[in-house]
Amino acid sequence: MAKTMQALMEKVNDRIERVFTQYLQAIPSLELKTAMEYTLFNGGKRIRPLLIYATGSIFNAPLENLDIPACAVELIHTYSLIHDDLPCMDNADLRRGKPTCHKVYNEGMAVLTGDALHTLTMQIISSHPARLPAEKRLQMMAVLSKACGPFGMAAGQALDITVMNDPTLSTDLLLDIYRLKTGALLSACIELGRLASDNDDEIHQRALKEFGDCIGLAFQIQDDVLDIETSTELLGKQQGIDQINNKVTYPKILGLDQAKDKVQILYQEALMAINYLGDRAQLLRELTGYMLQRQA
Ligand code: IPE
Ligand code: IPE
Ligand code: MG
Ligand code: MG
Ligand code: MG
Repeated sequence: MAKTMQALMEKVNDRIERVFTQYLQAIPSLELKTAMEYTLFNGGKRIRPLLIYATGSIFNAPLENLDIPACAVELIHTYSLIHDDLPCMDNADLRRGKPTCHKVYNEGMAVLTGDALHTLTMQIISSHPARLPAEKRLQMMAVLSKACGPFGMAAGQALDITVMNDPTLSTDLLLDIYRLKTGALLSACIELGRLASDNDDEIHQRALKEFGDCIGLAFQIQDDVLDIETSTELLGKQQGIDQINNKVTYPKILGLDQAKDKVQILYQEALMAINYLGDRAQLLRELTGYMLQRQA
């Protein structure tokens, strides 16, 4: 991995963990606090925050402005995984190489930990001391809520548990579900990174949206490929759980080779969309390369 990527990862992890620690300090239920810490500080790749800081760097967004959406998105992502792993959804016992939240803290506490992480997002966006104007915070709320609520991730997850067992599911609908359940939040990261800066250029907005949509879709197809090909040990999640849950996935419909080709094509399209940005987008480009090569 390139030195710049390694440095970015360390910096991003440090920054968001510092904010989380501050906000988690005085939670009046020790069990809830411990469960939140268990899921927030346990070795996630932090890809969404990385995308936010890398995009922000294109437009020289202040780091403390970027801390707000980076923490917000990672909180939403973490809550979504806790709920996704519950027995009533994917029934997964392992996450990031450790027992899932409900395995350690029981199901009731896992539901509440998800709720608490989700709601902490609003608290951080509204109260974080960065000098980010209120109007920007509102714009961030609009982008984030659209990406993770009933017009984004929640709808995608609902479709996942209602139609993804149907063997006649069309590829088009499947891709729409991927865009909703996974792509929307990843794509929002790109927009949020820009919103943390002063940039207001429509050309950039359109190019970055194209980039975000491509990597967002690629990410879930890749996740489904990894589920088939990568060992539980490397993945930190149970290998083959999609098969166990009888899920219709992109590699299942079209085969592994075509799925891998699609991932490559989408990442190339993403890179083309930001090509015009030249050196300014170097960090985002390196991050894209890292995502493309990920093994977990
Ligand atoms: C996994 O996301 C869930 C999907 C949306 C496919 P990540 O692969 O980013 O999970 P962590 O945070 O690194 O564990
Ligand atoms: C996850 O899809 C989508 C979410 C929004 C949580 P998966 O169910 O395939 O994610 P993993 O494989 O459990 O991480
Ligand atoms: Mg799932
Ligand atoms: Mg799952
Ligand atoms: Mg998966």
